[in-house]
Amino acid sequence: MTNRVRRGLLYIPGDDMHKIRKATTLGVDSVCLDMEDGVALNHKEAARATIAEALRMISFGRSERLVRINPIGSGLETEDLLATIGGHPDGYVLPKVESAEQVEWLCWRLTGAEQARGWPIGSIRVLVLIETALGIVNLRPVANCDRRLAALIFGAEDLAGDIGATRTREGWEVFYARSAVVTHAAAAGLDAIDMVCIDFEDTERLTCEALEGARLGFVGKQIIHPNQVEPVQAAFTPSDDAIAHARRIVQAFKEHQNGGAGVFALDGKMIDMPVVKAAQRVLDKAKAAGKA
Ligand code: COA
Ligand code: MG
Repeated sequence: MTNRVRRGLLYIPGDDMHKIRKATTLGVDSVCLDMEDGVALNHKEAARATIAEALRMISFGRSERLVRINPIGSGLETEDLLATIGGHPDGYVLPKVESAEQVEWLCWRLTGAEQARGWPIGSIRVLVLIETALGIVNLRPVANCDRRLAALIFGAEDLAGDIGATRTREGWEVFYARSAVVTHAAAAGLDAIDMVCIDFEDTERLTCEALEGARLGFVGKQIIHPNQVEPVQAAFTPSDDAIAHARRIVQAFKEHQNGGAGVFALDGKMIDMPVVKAAQRVLDKAKAAGKA
């Protein structure tokens, strides 16, 4: 996990200045100005220009400013980067990543841009989307290829299309891949960001899915509509009850350690080191989200 909280990562079509302005009012942890699948082929140029202008002219407050370029090999990626780098975004999102070389290409270009402009080397982060079968089987080299990498993002819709699965409400068809992403992210010390819920009118489904993602170990979720910001960010913020319970565990553990006991019972449940570590993680998350 990195220092920044990324509970909600909101996509905004890069050619839509109205939505970009709206995004600055939503209190979302990360905004992602998109040039890829949210933008029609004949609007890619317009998206580049609009994003460049937005980065220059608009204050995004405490939201992380991310830009999603088109995939490596699309023929659009170099222009996407050149057109937007001058606005000094906080990070780039690279879609459809399938190899370490693709990430290394972007990192190399970013290092060049930082050197040329006198910006701190490594300050522009890279978040990669894992959303193809090949991306899943190559997770290990991808997740460990560069220190610039901040997060692995799981793309369920593209993955389902790539493996020939049909999306369902339960999501078992993508569950292996979803778990693989969160596991590799943890092993490499990266954030894991969960799939989009495209049904933006069904808040109950969204909340269920977001809480499930949080239980699986994701730190946040991709979102596509303003209505999704609040429920998603709430789902990835520990509740007051969870914080109070975690505090009790950590406190009781200290007392028992001092008394020479590594394991003890609290409310009829065994508490030992893994439980204490999980409780500490809850407290860390709460602190990062500005609670506690
Ligand atoms: N970011 C910022 N503002 C958004 C937004 C977004 N992703 N999605 C909608 N809004 C704004 C609308 O402009 C509208 O603003 P207004 O009330 O000032 O006019 C308001 O929120 C309500 O939007 P609504 O009318 O319910 O939705 P819509 O029909 O305009 O748009 C989508 C629906 C799905 C097209 C839109 O939510 C969207 O573009 N989402 C992002 C899609 C995307 O980037 N996909 C690729 C990555 S998965
Ligand atoms: Mg995708």
